[in-house]
Amino acid sequence: MKTFSFKTHSSGTVKAALGRNMESIPALFPEIFKNADKVCLVTGSDAPPSLRARALALFPEGNRHHHYFWLPPSEKAKTLEEAGRLASFLFDHGFSRSSLVIAAGGGAVTDLAGFTASIYMRGINWVSVPTTFLAQIDAGLGGKTAVNLGGAKNIAGTFHQPALAVCDTAFLDSLPHAELRSGAGELVKYAMIGPGELFRTVGRNLQKVLAADRSALTACVSACAAYKLKLVAKDERDERGVRESLNFGHTAGHAFEAMSGGALPHGEAVARGIRFALIASLETGILKRADFNRMNAMIDALRLRPAAVRRDFRHFLTLVSRDKKARGADNRFVLAAGPGRLCPAEDLDAPLLRKAFEGALK
Ligand SMILES: NC(=O)c1ccc[n+]([C@@H]2O[C@H](COP(=O)([O-])OP(=O)(O)OC[C@H]3O[C@@H](n4cnc5c(N)ncnc54)[C@H](O)[C@@H]3O)[C@@H](O)[C@H]2O)c1
Repeated sequence: MKTFSFKTHSSGTVKAALGRNMESIPALFPEIFKNADKVCLVTGSDAPPSLRARALALFPEGNRHHHYFWLPPSEKAKTLEEAGRLASFLFDHGFSRSSLVIAAGGGAVTDLAGFTASIYMRGINWVSVPTTFLAQIDAGLGGKTAVNLGGAKNIAGTFHQPALAVCDTAFLDSLPHAELRSGAGELVKYAMIGPGELFRTVGRNLQKVLAADRSALTACVSACAAYKLKLVAKDERDERGVRESLNFGHTAGHAFEAMSGGALPHGEAVARGIRFALIASLETGILKRADFNRMNAMIDALRLRPAAVRRDFRHFLTLVSRDKKARGADNRFVLAAGPGRLCPAEDLDAPLLRKAFEGALK
């Protein structure tokens, strides 16, 4: 097991435990669990029984004030209505500022439960227990919480660090292959944004991850989660640009996700968004052909299924101009000059964007 800890300005100390089959988490982190007067376990209503059984081990022994709250599956959980429903549930059951919310599930569960924990009584402690590969390397870490509004992703949100993040790859044993493939999209992102060592770790393990190899999954969760936490520790509230690289592929990816009406899983949309960014980087001349080929080969290795996205370029332009990271420009993307060498670019022209759009959805 690898553990992490860093101090934040607003949320006290943030801890993380990364590994496989980690036992007695409440005993290992008594400062988080022992003083909780009540604990609420939040998970998705479609979670398999094995996930629930494993998550139950997170209830501190001796604390009898346990409650369970089920959210609708996946993105259906990420609404203001569901946040209100959970907050009312906590209130009705007497939760106070000394209580604890444990979110065990994919990124949709950790986003919604973290968001609710941040607004309930102006913020109570929560523990993030990501149970998909994507959430263990990304969504369940870093304190960004959100709900969707009017079909647009993550429009209402907060920064609220979990007191503890637990990434236990034993949860992944029950994960369907489609979810592994989706997570692999975010995994490739780490190869593109991190140091050379991370590029090599992902390259070595990508095919094994797609084959659900347990040690490859644990190695990748360990390396990527540790890298993300390092960035988060330097720029907790995403104010210094340190975390911007984590958005690589996401501006176009979020647009593809919205244009698919939910048919394209987040990680696959991000993989296509990365291909979009690579083509745009090549076309603007900042990425050399040899580097493009090397980086694009990783996207090819994912063997993405045909994208169920309407080829509506105008709609795409509208969506990227509304992206919350556009900062007033017509469009803003993170481009790459090579692995680990990223640079933002604004107001790219329409013919170039169209070329990247067509190439990404091929
Ligand atoms: N906050 C952030 O920093 C951040 C970063 C990236 C993505 N996200 C968000 O994360 C969400 C995507 O997360 P996701 O890919 O985890 O999808 P998800 O949360 O929609 O979960 C996918 C499915 O996997 C099931 N599942 C979860 N764990 C399982 C397990 N161990 N075994 C079997 N089934 C399991 C869920 O019940 C669900 O049906 C998106 O909403 C995205 O916006 C947030």
